[in-house]
Amino acid sequence: MYHLTGVTKCYRSGGGVVRALDGIGLCVEDGGALVVQGAAGSGKSTLLRILGGLERPTRGSVELDGTDLATLTECRLARIRTESIGTVPSGGGLTPGFTARQNVAGALLPLRLRPADRWELAGEALREVGMDKQLDVAAEELAAGARQRVALARALVKRPTVLLADRPTAGLDAAARAEIAELFVRVWGERRLTCVVATEDAALVGRAPRLATLSEGRVAAMARYPSAAAGG
Ligand SMILES: Nc1ncnc2c1ncn2[C@@H]1O[C@H](COP(=O)(O)OP(=O)(O)OP(=O)(O)O)[C@@H](O)[C@H]1O
Ligand SMILES: [Mg+2]
Repeated sequence: MYHLTGVTKCYRSGGGVVRALDGIGLCVEDGGALVVQGAAGSGKSTLLRILGGLERPTRGSVELDGTDLATLTECRLARIRTESIGTVPSGGGLTPGFTARQNVAGALLPLRLRPADRWELAGEALREVGMDKQLDVAAEELAAGARQRVALARALVKRPTVLLADRPTAGLDAAARAEIAELFVRVWGERRLTCVVATEDAALVGRAPRLATLSEGRVAAMARYPSAAAGG
């Protein structure tokens, strides 16, 4: 569970200061999914980086299961990132020149598993997102929607407790957007993940169990849709 209080993030930029986040307070429950929408520059990616422990807030606390990520040592933060947080970065973040299965297996490298087990788990994770027929296709040869499926498998293969995704349907055609949205809804329903997805896509916004709207680094609105969580 995430519990954010007063999260502010400032960047120096061109001699001035940009306030990317401005006093964000929110909770994401275990097994709950929060969709974050907002115009370009409203702070969605910044929020995800802070939730993922990739950046620290300038002010405020970012509690994950009672531990404040803002004040942890780099070593403990890295461990939480490795063991507990699965991330689908903007654009998917796959490594070209490697197959779908190699990309997913690579996410397990820090976990000290046997290579055969990494390979097996990667195959399983890809099958779970409907990629069983393209295990050995190079990342750059996959269609954009398929790349996002692989990116999701890559995030989920280590069985994290947290899933963070940045605009997972951006740049996809309508059919692929609907498929990826459906996949996320299935993941929310089937796994007890704490999940935050940034998007501008109506296909995802319309299925969100909870929806936060960011505006200029603030939570402008928060809504809860229990029927969406139930799959309706
Ligand atoms: N590393 C950085 N240095 C300086 N300014 C930054 C940095 N990262 C983000 N910003 C600024 O912070 C604000 C929020 O950016 P952010 O990328 O979080 O928005 P976003 O909602 O993800 O936008 P988009 O929809 O385009 O992805 C913007 O004004 C952006 O220019
Ligand atoms: Mg962004």
